[in-house]
Amino acid sequence: MLERTVLFLSMASDSNSSIESVLQEQRVFPPSSDISKRGQIGSLETYQRMFNDAKKDPEKFWREAALKELSWFEPFKKVLDWSNPPFARWFDGGKTNLSFNCLDRHLDSDKADKYALIWEGEPGDVRRFTYRELYHEVCRTANALKALGVGKGDLVALYMPMIPEAAIAMLACARIGAPHSVVFGGFSSEALRDRLVDGEAKAVITADGGYRKDKAVPLKPAVDAALADNSCPSVQSVLVVQRTKEKIHMEDGRDSWWHELVPTQKRECQAEPMDSEARLFVLYTSGSTGKPKGVVHTTAGYNLWAHLTFQWIFDIREDDVYWCTADVGWITGHSYIVYGPLSNGATTVMYEGAPRPSKPGAFWELIQKHGITIFYTAPTAIRAFMKSGRSVPDKYDMTSLRLLGTVGEPINPEAWIWYREVIGGGRCPIVDTWWQTETGGVMISPLPGATPTKPGSATLPLPGIEADVVDEKGHSVAPDEGGYLVIRRPWPGMMRTVHGNKQRFRESYWEYLRPEDGSLIYFAGDGARRDVDGYFWVMGRVDDVINVSGHRLGTMEIESALVSHNAVSEAAVVGRQDDLKGEGIVAFVTLESGREVTESLLKELREHVGEEIGPIARPDEIRCSDALPKTRSGKIMRRILRALASGEEISGDTSTLEDRSVLEKLRS
Ligand code: WT7
Repeated sequence: MLERTVLFLSMASDSNSSIESVLQEQRVFPPSSDISKRGQIGSLETYQRMFNDAKKDPEKFWREAALKELSWFEPFKKVLDWSNPPFARWFDGGKTNLSFNCLDRHLDSDKADKYALIWEGEPGDVRRFTYRELYHEVCRTANALKALGVGKGDLVALYMPMIPEAAIAMLACARIGAPHSVVFGGFSSEALRDRLVDGEAKAVITADGGYRKDKAVPLKPAVDAALADNSCPSVQSVLVVQRTKEKIHMEDGRDSWWHELVPTQKRECQAEPMDSEARLFVLYTSGSTGKPKGVVHTTAGYNLWAHLTFQWIFDIREDDVYWCTADVGWITGHSYIVYGPLSNGATTVMYEGAPRPSKPGAFWELIQKHGITIFYTAPTAIRAFMKSGRSVPDKYDMTSLRLLGTVGEPINPEAWIWYREVIGGGRCPIVDTWWQTETGGVMISPLPGATPTKPGSATLPLPGIEADVVDEKGHSVAPDEGGYLVIRRPWPGMMRTVHGNKQRFRESYWEYLRPEDGSLIYFAGDGARRDVDGYFWVMGRVDDVINVSGHRLGTMEIESALVSHNAVSEAAVVGRQDDLKGEGIVAFVTLESGREVTESLLKELREHVGEEIGPIARPDEIRCSDALPKTRSGKIMRRILRALASGEEISGDTSTLEDRSVLEKLRS
């Protein structure tokens, strides 16, 4: 990583004005006037005041927020203990419970009979839970966990499809103070085993299977395989939801059926008063090297940050129907399907399926059917929709929508504009939210009633967040120069450590950059620049940036240029060692359906990039294929493309790859 960051930073010093001018997205969209009028943060001035208040007196800002937004069993004594950095303690001395904040406290208001969760299964089955119903389900499940011997502090792994029981199980764990570790249902049994062993899980909650793209996919056999040969001795029980009704093995004395155990439990279960800093969950995420890290989040700080950010960014109102398309196996699902929405008493929609050839309009149908008002998805999904054209979404009535969001990767301006025009009917603001598993919640994002947006920019840091772009000594760089995206102060939602590896936490996040004044700054791998308005343009991970003849180029910008050509549906660009130029550019593209790969088209694409950015950015090679290698969460695996581009063996972990046949095709 270091080698690549050095290359990356060298671009900071030689900004090529012709490139910069094209890269500079000029369009600005004002905040929604409707939200400005009715919203809680209705002007840029209000945002700035909040931001400045938080900066001037962070203690006061966070104290007031924590007292106002969370319910406490015991008040906290100290806002932030930063005496042993980078190990922060937030709201020490206090006792609260995330499940209480998401459920119990809504029951003595009108919210009790409001829908908390609307779930739509892949085959079209629908289940709805009011806050009161969800509360009782969670209590029963919490009692079932206790009956299985799970207690405060015991780690429970969840390996589940996108069914309501996944959210219920998370809330049940939080209720009894058992940290959860959700493992994405698309991971293999080996990946699951690694996570069970690393976390010393005491129990596993799973399902016989789930539905993916029109068919039932088994899950329980992978749990059996992960536990075989006593390879996870800490696991004592497995709780199994019946979803697909496929025949599965049930191990005597270890496995129990959810539908037999849970419904017989009492429907009340006192929420355990948890210390603010009690471990809430562990969530594994890949670093650029080494095995996945177990990111640890704790109770009060995480709760506050998921709650506040959800409220601010989505400008949530009583009658909103909010839908985030992520999987609960990722942090987005944790913070913005389950905890953020429920803590705010909102209605959250959960969908088991995905758009598929048999149902290309699945998302839009759901928006129409449930009257979704806020829609939050990933740029990669938007690009896939662009590929099939606007005729699909145009068939649906999506006038209920009032706000759109994106997350997960930089969004290219073309996709942003398409999203705004085609999905949002030109009237919905877009919040492009930058954050990470490690940050717990969103860090940089527009506020829809306050922040003018520029397509492709996540805009400004949220109040309380001191984000900056710096060089390797931690000095802020000049506007429009590239550098490391860092956070200068602790915030409540920050990860507390890497599970079982304090050293790795310290080294990879807080000691990567070493300012001369000895201060600690948080860096988690992204490069960015700030424009003259202070807007952040996230350029992607620093290892995704290439240097051609001393010119720093974001792969993302080249991709954006390629995608702006009408023949290209999706593009991924990587660097390849080049004796003359340092690095050369290799582009992998998928073409719009119906377009043929021809020499003249490849030439045209090269020229197009040359025109969009500058001659220096023209790819040395363009390879076309009908798909790109992606993780199951939809991220393009550039590591694999880099190896392919340079003709190297693909080394390292490919277990997260969604479709292995893509590799074979790209190789040949
Ligand atoms: C990385 C974190 C945070 C939820 C999903 C991903 C990239 C995320 C954006 C955005 C540009 C983004 C960054 C970050 N990223 N959101 N709006 N613009 N890049 O969580 O798996 O922890 O990945 O995703 O590179 O470091 P994650």
